[in-house]
Formats: sequence, structure tokens, C-alpha cells
Amino acid sequence: MRKACLIVAEILKRLEEHVQPGVTTWDLNALSEDLAARQKAKPAFKGYHGYPFALCTSVNAEVVHGMPSKHRQLKEGDIISIDFGVMIDGYYGDAAVTVPVGSVSEEARELCRVTEDALYEGIRQVQPKHRLSDISHAIQEYVEARGFSVVREFVGHGIGQQLHESPQIPNYGPAGKGVVLKPGMVFAIEPMINQGRAEVEILDDQWTAVTIDKKLSAHFEHTVAVTENEPDILTKG
Ligand code: MF3
Ligand code: CO
Repeated sequence: MRKACLIVAEILKRLEEHVQPGVTTWDLNALSEDLAARQKAKPAFKGYHGYPFALCTSVNAEVVHGMPSKHRQLKEGDIISIDFGVMIDGYYGDAAVTVPVGSVSEEARELCRVTEDALYEGIRQVQPKHRLSDISHAIQEYVEARGFSVVREFVGHGIGQQLHESPQIPNYGPAGKGVVLKPGMVFAIEPMINQGRAEVEILDDQWTAVTIDKKLSAHFEHTVAVTENEPDILTKG
């Protein structure tokens, strides 16, 4: 899993560097496929429940599962969530970042910062003897105290020889519930955080989730292993 996750981290870094006004989400997808092929890694999302691309590119009010398009040119002031996973030697890695396109509003930057920090609040709970929902609770507390809202419809997940394994990991809920964490367990933790209301809807393409109020949304994800000591962030690179 370390190998898969390292490949994901490196490819995400390259994609992030490529984000600038004028680039299309299609270009980013093509680059991700190219970089994965060079590592002999299989893009994890392509073909998953019929999803046609290697990458999810969710711009501004798009929450997750935005589909790359030749017609979606990034422009200054946008924020884009880039979500990518691979499988290699039978194991998966999965991660996402939300990055600014050129210079963006202070509100957009704040949303991205709080979402990434919320992910790290969740990761801090990835300790032996903690319960699964300690992760969920930490994320919700952090986000709501800062006036943002947690998307309910999508969750983090166990990950290993499948992209999505049990358990599901909501980004909200009371602490102290669910499985007791043990060294060797690996989770993909992925808060999706909205500037306005929490509710989302799915577009006619059947994939793209957007905020119902059309306000901004951000998404960060890491694949993280429980160890005897500190959480091991496998997709950190
Ligand atoms: N990172 C997302 C997830 O963990 C991406 C899945 S997109 C899909 O669920 F196309 F594979 F469904
Ligand atoms: Co995931």
C-alpha cells in the first residue's frame, strides 16, 4: 500500500503544479493517465461503477466526482479538487487535494485551509484504541466551529485490496462509536466541506455532485495507516 500511495502522492503533486488558468480538466486527466502508465500503476477510478476517467476534477461548487471535460477550462479564481487513486501489486492508494487556480478570494482560501486542517484533525484520531467515529467527530467539530458545513452524502472508507472497503467513515457524528482502531488498519479519510449549506445534488451526468446553493466546496483526502505510535500518512509522499 505504501508503494501505491507514494505513486498517488507524486502524481497529485505533478497535477497540482500543472494547475493554472487555461488548462482544461481534460488535460489534467490525460496527464494523470500518462503518469500512472509510466509507473505501471492502474488508475483506480477508471471503470469503477462505470466511471469513465482516471481523475475526478471538481471545480468550485462541484463537491466530488466532477468529470474531466475538454470544455472545462480553469480560470483565475477557481478552486479545483483533484482526486486520484491507483492500484499496483494488488493494493490501492487514494488521495485528493483542493488547489487554487491563480489567485483566489480570501473566502476560497479559508475554505481550503479549514478543509485540509479538518482532515489533519481527523488523522490525529488515527491511534490504537481510539474508535472509528472519533475521526468523524473531530472533523465535524473543527469544521462547524469555523462556520462551514459537512457534506453527509459521501464518506471516507477502508482501503486495501479494494478501493472501497468497510468501514464507511462519515465526516460527522458523535465520538466513541464504531470499531476500535488497531495497528495495520488503513483508512481513506476525506472531508468534503461546503461554504454554505451542506446539501448536494447530482447533475444529469449521474456523477458530479454540486452544492445546492452553488457556493464553494473543498475536498482533501489521505490514505492513513494505524500504527503503534503516530498515524502513518501513506499518501503524504
Ligand atoms: N476518492 C473517491 C473515493 O474514495 C473517488 C472515487 S470516484 C469513483 O470514493 F469514480 F471511483 F467512484
Ligand atoms: Co476515497
